[in-house]
Amino acid sequence: MRIFSGNANRPLAQSICQSLDMRLGEMTCSRFADGEVKVQVHEDVRGADVFIIQPTHTNDFLMELLVIADAMRRASVGRITAVIPYFGYARQDRKHDGRVPITAKLVANLLATAGIDRVLAVDLHATQIQGFFDIPLDHLSAFPVQLEYLKSCNFENPVLLSPDTGSIKLADKVAKVLGADLAIIDKRRTSDTETEVANVIGTVEGREVIIVDDMISTAGTLSKAIQTAYDRGAKSVMSMATHAILCGTAYERLSSTNLDELVITDTIPLKRRFADLPIRVLSLAGLLGDAIHRIHTNQSVSSLIK
Ligand code: R5P
Repeated sequence: MRIFSGNANRPLAQSICQSLDMRLGEMTCSRFADGEVKVQVHEDVRGADVFIIQPTHTNDFLMELLVIADAMRRASVGRITAVIPYFGYARQDRKHDGRVPITAKLVANLLATAGIDRVLAVDLHATQIQGFFDIPLDHLSAFPVQLEYLKSCNFENPVLLSPDTGSIKLADKVAKVLGADLAIIDKRRTSDTETEVANVIGTVEGREVIIVDDMISTAGTLSKAIQTAYDRGAKSVMSMATHAILCGTAYERLSSTNLDELVITDTIPLKRRFADLPIRVLSLAGLLGDAIHRIHTNQSVSSLIK
C-alpha cells in the first residue's frame, strides 16, 4: 500500500500517514511555466494499492488529482483509490433551472476516466451523489469525531439550529443523539453569496445554540444564523461544519459576527488568515487512516459510518 498527496492538503496526508505508521510516497506535483500541472512519481509503484489524498476545493486541486491518477495508471499501479475529504462541485447536483450543468456527475465521470478505481469521501453535500459514481465509493461522516467533541462540552440546555432546510436531517441527527431540541431557519438565497432569514421555527431563547451545516463557503449562511440566534435571545452559540472552504468575504463576515466558537475539521486546510478567530479544528486523520487500512485489507468500513 502507498499513500500519495497532491498540494491540496499535505498536512492531512502527513497525519494520515502518521496514524498508519507509514511514510508519504515520493512524488513531485508542480507546475509548468504556463500553469499546467506537472507530476512525476519518484518511486516504483508497479502493482501497488495506491491512495491519493486530495480534497478538490479548487479547480487546480481537481486537475492535480486527475493528472496524478493518470501518472499512477501509466506507472502500472494495481489499484487507485482517490481519498477526497472534500468533494467540490457537489452543490450543482441537479438541474434546478433550464440549461445548467450537473457538475457533481461530470466530476464523477472525470475521476473514473482518469483511471481512479474507487473513492473515499467525507460528508458529501448530498448523499445521493454516491449514485453518480459507477465505481465503488465509501462515504464517511465526520459525525463520530464531532460527536465526541460535542459530548465533552457538557451542554445544559442545548438546541440544534439548522441554518437552512438542507441541513435539517443533520441537525436532527445530532439533536437526537444529544437529547436536544431542534430549531430551523427558513433561509432564502438571494444570490450565490447572499442569503436572508425569512423565519425561525422553534425556540432558541435562553438556550445553548449549536448550529450545524456540512460546509461554510462565504459564511453568509452561518453569520446570518449566528445573528438570528442572538437576536432571538440565545445564551451562547457554537457553530459546527465539516468543510471550511472559507472563501470570498468569509473572514470579514466571521470577524464581524459574534463568534463564540466555530468547530470545523481538517478536510480543507485552514487559511492562516483565520488564525485569530475562535476556530477549533478536529482532525479526521485517524478516521481516514482507519478507513484506508480497512479498504486495503478488504475489511468492512461500515462500522466507521455512523
Ligand atoms: C447549502 O446548501 C450548504 O449546506 C451551506 O449552507 C452553504 O453552501 C454555505 O454557503 P455560504 O457559506 O456561502 O453561505
